[in-house]
Amino acid sequence: MKKISIGIIGKGNIGSEVYHKSQSNGWIVNWIAGSKGIFSDLSEKTKIAELKNYEQHLQGLDGIFLAIPTLDNGEAGFHYIKSSLNANVPVVTCEKGALSNYFLELEEAIKNQQIGYSATVGGGSRLLRYLQERIGPQVQEIHAVVNGTLNYIFEGLSNGRSLGEVVEETKKLGYAEPGAKHPLEVIIKEAIGDVPMKASILFNICNLTNERMRTKDVKIETIEQNELKRLIKEATNRRYIVSITRDGNNEEDVIWGFKHKIDDWHISAGFKHVEDNPLFRNLIPSGVNNAILTSEGEFGKDGSYVLIGPGAGPGPTASSMIIDAKKIMHL
Ligand SMILES: NC(=O)c1ccc[n+]([C@@H]2O[C@H](COP(=O)([O-])OP(=O)(O)OC[C@H]3O[C@@H](n4cnc5c(N)ncnc54)[C@H](OP(=O)(O)O)[C@@H]3O)[C@@H](O)[C@H]2O)c1
Repeated sequence: MKKISIGIIGKGNIGSEVYHKSQSNGWIVNWIAGSKGIFSDLSEKTKIAELKNYEQHLQGLDGIFLAIPTLDNGEAGFHYIKSSLNANVPVVTCEKGALSNYFLELEEAIKNQQIGYSATVGGGSRLLRYLQERIGPQVQEIHAVVNGTLNYIFEGLSNGRSLGEVVEETKKLGYAEPGAKHPLEVIIKEAIGDVPMKASILFNICNLTNERMRTKDVKIETIEQNELKRLIKEATNRRYIVSITRDGNNEEDVIWGFKHKIDDWHISAGFKHVEDNPLFRNLIPSGVNNAILTSEGEFGKDGSYVLIGPGAGPGPTASSMIIDAKKIMHL
């Protein structure tokens, strides 16, 4: 049987978990790269090459895993994906910037199953695959909780825990987006940095229109201090929800977030009131889980359907990436 050889870009929470899971599958990890260079293993004892020379190390690989933070509009991720595809090496990514800003440019490779992207939204829940199967002209509304960290924080606040305590826990468990330190910084980074990218990917994979959403086109207001105070006070009844609907709802009870329109479709997100839409009752997951709900038929007469699963954390995310890898490497 042919031995599978892979490379991993990013050696943090997710990259190191992918490293271990790849080895458990009997795959050879040829190298793992971080910002300091390309190394033979996680220990960084043996440096193979400078990071800028990684293209020379793609030859002969069966796949690349990409697990770097998004520190730009996805250019770094896009560049890694393009160069891997140019070398005929398929890519599995959990980095959201590339797909949320360059979906159109990558769409052909996505259709040809050269890119695995299930972990970009919904962590380990495989929510994107589920949505792709459900989508059709009967779907009138889609609502989603796609940020497990915010859901975890707001559930913790509802249970009487302090913001500082619950945010510290999300960081220890590896749920929070890399980089943020202060509790409010974590909330802002998740809501501004993470969710608009996930909303774009959600919208784009649904193929509802010919136009694609780019996160960099979405206008997001900065949150005011008084809104933040209200948010913490009302935490019990607030969850960060993304909605994709045919009718825009201007009457929504929402704190912060964004609204974006593409053709007939309205994409909105924010800390919505859980009683604002009866469908939200079935949507809100517990803990760090993510959820997606589709409402089908006129006024939902054909029912609503929900998928809930683990939305963040190195274990579920890396597992989902391994499933993608097996598919795109035809194993
Ligand atoms: N944590 C989760 O539950 C979760 C779930 C789904 C998706 N994600 C996504 O997974 C990605 C990684 O998250 P993480 O928690 O693993 O982050 P992390 O722990 O901060 O690790 C990031 C790694 O990427 C490396 N890196 C940064 N910029 C790079 C570049 N330009 N080229 C090569 N390597 C680079 C860093 O190198 P150094 O170590 O040398 O600094 C580090 O090893 C993010 O895009 C995140 O949104 C995370």
